[in-house]
Amino acid sequence: MGKQARAIVDLSLKELVRELNKAYCDEWLAFYLYWYIAHVVSGRSYANIKSALEEIAKDELEHASELAELITTLGDVPSSNPMDIEKNANFPYTLPPKNTADINRIIRVVTEAESGAIEIYHKLAKKTQGKDYHTHQLMVHILSEEIGHEERFENLLER
Ligand SMILES: [Fe+2]
Ligand SMILES: [Fe+2]
Repeated sequence: MGKQARAIVDLSLKELVRELNKAYCDEWLAFYLYWYIAHVVSGRSYANIKSALEEIAKDELEHASELAELITTLGDVPSSNPMDIEKNANFPYTLPPKNTADINRIIRVVTEAESGAIEIYHKLAKKTQGKDYHTHQLMVHILSEEIGHEERFENLLER
């Protein structure tokens, strides 16, 4: 991002980048959690949740890439040390259920992660509205994908 593009950002860039980096860390934790559960989930009806987790994990990794690009564009760099990822995230890492066949508990854990993501991107979309159009556009894009993820996971709950 050039000088003029940064000049029109009507927010503290330092604070914005700090918040974007927290979201970047959340994305890595979500990616890891979903990717991990996709590999260990078991039981009679594991197939649907496995494919949902695999596909959504890819989206979370893409969000991490988009945020890394944005942070770089804003003149900074995202967290470089994997050891700092949880410390810098908005939410602590949730361990997956020990019982890998407990589909409903797995779904509760991942929908909770999506609900946290929706809260964060909603906050960032509001914060950047009319202040930083470039960041705002990405926040709205990611928010709408997180809304889709929550719905997809909720629909897998076994009644
Ligand atoms: Fe995400
Ligand atoms: Fe998500």
